[in-house]
Amino acid sequence: MNVLGIETSCDETAVSVVKDGRMVLSNIVSSSLRFHKKYGGVIPEIASRIQLKVIDYALNEAIRGSGVKLKDIDLIAVTSGPGLKGSLLVGICLAKATAFGLNIPLVQVNHLYAHIYAAFLKTPGAPKISICGDVFPFIGLVVSGGHTSLFYVKDFTDIETLGYTLDDACGEAFDKVAKILGLGYPGGPIIEKLAKKGNPKRIRFSGSRTMRPFDFSFSGIKTAVLYSVNKGLHPKQKREIPLNDKRDVAASFQEKAIDILIEKAFSACRMKRTDVLIVGGGVAANTRLRERFKQRAKGEISEVYFSPLEFCTDNAAMVAGLGYLLFKKGRLSKLDLTVKTN
Ligand code: KG4
Ligand code: ZN
Repeated sequence: MNVLGIETSCDETAVSVVKDGRMVLSNIVSSSLRFHKKYGGVIPEIASRIQLKVIDYALNEAIRGSGVKLKDIDLIAVTSGPGLKGSLLVGICLAKATAFGLNIPLVQVNHLYAHIYAAFLKTPGAPKISICGDVFPFIGLVVSGGHTSLFYVKDFTDIETLGYTLDDACGEAFDKVAKILGLGYPGGPIIEKLAKKGNPKRIRFSGSRTMRPFDFSFSGIKTAVLYSVNKGLHPKQKREIPLNDKRDVAASFQEKAIDILIEKAFSACRMKRTDVLIVGGGVAANTRLRERFKQRAKGEISEVYFSPLEFCTDNAAMVAGLGYLLFKKGRLSKLDLTVKTN
């Protein structure tokens, strides 16, 4: 079964064709990032206007690259939320029109659940996939620019939310720390690169406590970074931060952020008595994070799986893949489908 996935929840315009829920035949991701860079974050109005312009092109490229004809698409899967309303609407409108035009079914997909599903995807010629057999129930951790959430996944139609971010998401904290250090956007990959040469023990940042054990709060650690960088300065004063200091701040921040994620994720596994953890979302592309989670999993005698690197950040393959599974479970959407904000 060939599924066309459409994802437009943030600044990306992504269209993909996935066969039978796992084999990614094409994966087109067009980002409007360069138009947002000077603002240090995504501007929703700019994102949706660009998505309107490029979505046709992304659709054509995804079909062309898949080797499948549009008439051979059997199902349309589209992200219906959470995300930016205007952006989501662009994808939803294309999905509805295409499903109507081809007279094929339509299924809506939750963006966060799709980030977890990304761990099940594979590409032609890729080495043996690591997830096979039954991994349910498991704990799913989504670490992205907009969300940090822990889920107990009994199956993809029965998901319990254990906790979520109360303020800044983890990726957002990476982005803001990069901004404090005078670096570019998005901050995650830049912080990761700098941290490689930094001393993670130089500054001991502390995380904020949360009332509920599986909620997250990253704004405290971001503010602590700001204070440590501006220590001794008048609020209006600015100074050039030496490269070595930047490296140490990046490494110390990254290490603490990973500590927080590890503690909560493995504690959720213990609470739910499951030994499988799946991690997805943009921050899951971080090499140090992957390494530390694997080390910890060894110690806990549990298994940890990650999305393949190319499917960590936003993409439509994860939407098509999960859409297929939901379709098989009878979850269909009607043409009155619209944005779901929660
Ligand atoms: O999942 P995603 O593409 O978008 C949302 O759904 O939000 O995640 C984007 C986030 C950004 O905050 C970016 O800085 C972060 O993922 N990110 C990383 C890395 N690559 C992307 N964070 C840490 N290390 C990375 N290597
Ligand atoms: Zn995302």
